[in-house]
Amino acid sequence: MTAASEAVAVRRARLEDAEGIGRVQSECWRATYAGLIPDSVLVRMTPKRQARLWRSYIRSGDLAGIIYVACAPEGVVGFASCGPEQTGRFPGSGEVYTLYVAESLHGRGLGRRLLRAMFGRLRRDGFPSALIWVLDGNPARYFYESLGGVLVAQRSSEQWGVAISESAYMWRSLSDFR
Ligand SMILES: CC(C)(COP(=O)(O)OP(=O)(O)OC[C@H]1O[C@@H](n2cnc3c(N)ncnc32)[C@H](O)[C@@H]1OP(=O)(O)O)[C@@H](O)C(=O)NCCC(=O)NCCS
Repeated sequence: MTAASEAVAVRRARLEDAEGIGRVQSECWRATYAGLIPDSVLVRMTPKRQARLWRSYIRSGDLAGIIYVACAPEGVVGFASCGPEQTGRFPGSGEVYTLYVAESLHGRGLGRRLLRAMFGRLRRDGFPSALIWVLDGNPARYFYESLGGVLVAQRSSEQWGVAISESAYMWRSLSDFR
């Protein structure tokens, strides 16, 4: 995709965005998580299957949190979702559950714009702070660090039959985020 990032609108997701969200998510997972999670999981994650899932999330209104898309004239090129922090370890904090930008548009400010939209939304919903969990080994952690996120927690679990380690980056004052 060759859209100039200034032609990209960041807005609340609509039902008709589900297909684009599924496409961006499948592409990003394969590009980002190969070698970090089992190939079988990546193979199962098809654009069609993910679109079906996101259609149900958008329709339900809150199942996957508040969903925003970055939308170019040719379609969805990024998306993000947010809501209350899910572990209960950071009471009163918000959480960004997903953040994905199409690989061909990395480095053009869309990740920051989506994050800003998420933080703005969380602030309006009464959350002064927010965090994001990122898989260890994903270079996105440096993106969060460069945007002021502070490492506040780590966790390990078993998912898809393998050990998974994640780190949480937090922004304690969303009103300071630019
Ligand atoms: C992480 C991601 C959302 C960043 O989006 P992006 O549109 O490429 O980032 P931006 O262009 O908005 O970058 C904003 C700033 O962060 C910096 N940055 C971006 N990615 C970075 C990285 N991997 N390491 C260090 N800095 C990074 C940019 O240089 C930029 O700094 P500047 O404003 O001083 O120039 C994107 O790379 C992505 O979708 N990755 C794959 C999916 C993923 O891992 N999502 C996160 C799951 S937890």
